[in-house]
Amino acid sequence: MTKVSTLVTGIGELVTLDPGQSIATGTSPDVARLGPLHDVAMVVEDGVIAWIGPAAQAPAADTRLDLDGRAVIPGFVDSHTHLVFAGDRSGEFAARMAGTAYDGGGIASTVAATRAATDEQLRALIARRVAEARAQGTTTLEIKSGYGLTVADEVRALRLAREVTPHTTFLGAHVVPREYASDRTAYVDLVTGPMLAAVTEVTADGADGEASRPAYLDVFCEPHSPHAFTADEARAILLAGRAAGLGLRVHGNQLGPGPGVLLACELGAASVDHCTYLSDADVDALAATGTVATLLPGVEFSTRMPYPDARRLLDAGVRVALASDCNPGTCYSSSMPFVVALAVRELRITPAEALYAATAGSGASLGLDVRVAVGEPAALAVLDAPSYLHLAYRPGVPIATALEVTARHTGQKPVPEIEGP
Ligand code: NIG
Ligand code: FE
Repeated sequence: MTKVSTLVTGIGELVTLDPGQSIATGTSPDVARLGPLHDVAMVVEDGVIAWIGPAAQAPAADTRLDLDGRAVIPGFVDSHTHLVFAGDRSGEFAARMAGTAYDGGGIASTVAATRAATDEQLRALIARRVAEARAQGTTTLEIKSGYGLTVADEVRALRLAREVTPHTTFLGAHVVPREYASDRTAYVDLVTGPMLAAVTEVTADGADGEASRPAYLDVFCEPHSPHAFTADEARAILLAGRAAGLGLRVHGNQLGPGPGVLLACELGAASVDHCTYLSDADVDALAATGTVATLLPGVEFSTRMPYPDARRLLDAGVRVALASDCNPGTCYSSSMPFVVALAVRELRITPAEALYAATAGSGASLGLDVRVAVGEPAALAVLDAPSYLHLAYRPGVPIATALEVTARHTGQKPVPEIEGP
């Protein structure tokens, strides 16, 4: 098959995330880490970057895309989303703005609506949300299950998610569903037993014949929610996931101080997400283990909670990621530019640190080495602006979109072989 190449010209600024680039002396370390280049052009061939070099030396290609001075950045990696759901909780949001606290209780209504939806309805909702994210510059998405909470509904959620991304996470331990409220142990047994077995053993299924085994298992470990899981329950669930060969993620320290961060670090989780309330021991453990601290400031915005202390994490050498947490309860926004703007304004990190966390940082939490370099997927976003600084400078203005020639990161970890029927 003939390869199709596109020469991209008129790039106002190219953010490469490549520290090997020669950067002007005097550039601050946070900006240098972005590896910004000027006066360059790029050739993309079948979704892969084939050439980057001085604009004056650009080679010929089949087609040409002139960006007229617009900036090109790595596409956002949204490493934490819950896109598989039906129903609406705008009333819960309104109540929260009037003073009601978030405690996870509203998840039950999304579970009911999601169970009642057909595959086709869910597929259409997911497609719309993915398109919405892509239209705002996201090229790589992680998607969790967690609104099914039965064996069949969790398998279905993961199968539908896998139709749109290889980065899927089993969140059967999102909350204890109502039907198990009086027997939490039975639900933990279900998650660690038949549910985990079903989601890790599913064979080829669905319209496109793709398997639905997730890459990760996640648990909502939160002593401040009566619906979420205790440290002991979360430990049992995470250990079962690890034994089944899944990578680990944790929702931790969201609503108050708690055991989630230390548990995630102890068990070698790829990421612990929220990290809103941290002790010195939590920060030390994150720095020592390399577990990524994923911050989700859209959640604090939408729940009127205090923002996490990103500065403290970065200064301690913790690997920090930014993601949307797009879900119907705590943050119904898929906008990574919004997240970046919030991080700069409310988490008080620099625009360069925020962009790094929303691309390289979030990529690292999914095992991806995100860079704009020859041989890498052309997972890129274009800004209707001359510089990445405009992401935070122009909040709420839709300046970012996935670049048309864009690919997406499909992951370096091969999806485990699935046994045939
Ligand atoms: O990441 N905290 C737990 N889970 C989600 C919210 C889910 C919901 O309320 O529907 C979160 O914030
Ligand atoms: Fe979440």
